[in-house]
Amino acid sequence: MSCEHECAFAVTTSPSVFGAGALSEIGEHASGFDLRRVALFTDERLAESDYVATVSRSLSAAGIDSELYRRTRVEPTDGSFLEAAQFAREGRFDGFVSVGGGSVIDTAKAANLFSSHPAELMTYVNRPLGEGMPVPGALAPHIACPTTAGTGSENTGIAVFDLVSEKAKTGIVSHRLRPSLAVIDPQVTRTLPKNVAASGAFDTLCHALESFTARPYHERPRPSHVRLRPSSQGANPWSDIGCRETLSLLGRFLLRGVVDGSDFEAREQLQWASTLAGIAFGNAGCHAPHGMSYSVSGLVRGFRPEGYPDASPIIPHGMSVIVSAPAVFRMTARHDPSRHLRAAKLLGADITGAGPDDAGHVLSARLIELMEKTSMPNGLSGVGYEASDVEALTEGANPQRRLLDNAPVAIGTEELRALYTDALRYW
Ligand SMILES: [Fe+2]
Repeated sequence: MSCEHECAFAVTTSPSVFGAGALSEIGEHASGFDLRRVALFTDERLAESDYVATVSRSLSAAGIDSELYRRTRVEPTDGSFLEAAQFAREGRFDGFVSVGGGSVIDTAKAANLFSSHPAELMTYVNRPLGEGMPVPGALAPHIACPTTAGTGSENTGIAVFDLVSEKAKTGIVSHRLRPSLAVIDPQVTRTLPKNVAASGAFDTLCHALESFTARPYHERPRPSHVRLRPSSQGANPWSDIGCRETLSLLGRFLLRGVVDGSDFEAREQLQWASTLAGIAFGNAGCHAPHGMSYSVSGLVRGFRPEGYPDASPIIPHGMSVIVSAPAVFRMTARHDPSRHLRAAKLLGADITGAGPDDAGHVLSARLIELMEKTSMPNGLSGVGYEASDVEALTEGANPQRRLLDNAPVAIGTEELRALYTDALRYW
């Protein structure tokens, strides 16, 4: 069979272990990879936590030597990636274990990459900011243990960082960066502050919603070689399964799990939703809300949300994504109204009597309702931007073609400008 458009989709994911208490098994998993000396990546906040102590004990019990690295940055930078890479090179480790949020896991991926295949930082970074060179070979084993629900980093081959000189978020994308094993222990989400839980839940929501509405894989041109098939391959039957279940879980548990930190059932279900969405977007790819989020977080001025270390202003990843989402889905619904309506229903919206022309409004109204009830920022104005910032936000997002071109409709400069303007305020 031959065709101009893509005829097949690929299914890849990290092997995963999910369940309460799974962190205490890390040593046995590491033994399974024949590890003898590992770099244990975490951050300052978690370094003294029971979670890191549990992992450390488990490694020792298995006869594995570990050295703790706690200097990862929340929202890593080129500088923090380089520092981690130097630690990894000097430590002569044969494997990596990461215990933390997406920032910790991404930093461990970068440290693993640059110690396994030393190069200048920009060598493997996505074009156009970096050289976009392929990773030349396998990395050391990496066991990733997420402590926040949302990023899905434990299941993806993506490491994101802020390129400080360009005031831009960018990343390294390669299937070789995907952790060898994801160990997800939902008990770790019990202590998350409300705002951190909310940001993670909305990141999960956008992973699922963007993957579900991404340009279908069969509308993409067929690559000249299977090696060139991108991980952002578009919506496909496999990713759809995870997206639908994720949206349904969020419809039932997002408000409960965010508002009441002692609702362990809801927090556990949010972690499961995050895992499913990570697998889905690792195979379909996100689109405009994530593409637009890079300049939203990169151009931050004075925003300091509750629940985060307050050393410097920060727009947490989930917040930087969700602030544009209602505007995006209002616009993309015309491409496939029934898919957008279905997503709205799974998220708990009443779609009785809604027709194709209502799909964008119904879905965005449900998103706005969830944002308002969880005290999320009121669009871009809620994180400190105004109409005069739209140009800079547009300019910053425009190079994110890997994500923007995965949207179901063409998104160029004019569309970005219109979307940022529409996202300024929702209520
Ligand atoms: Fe995300």
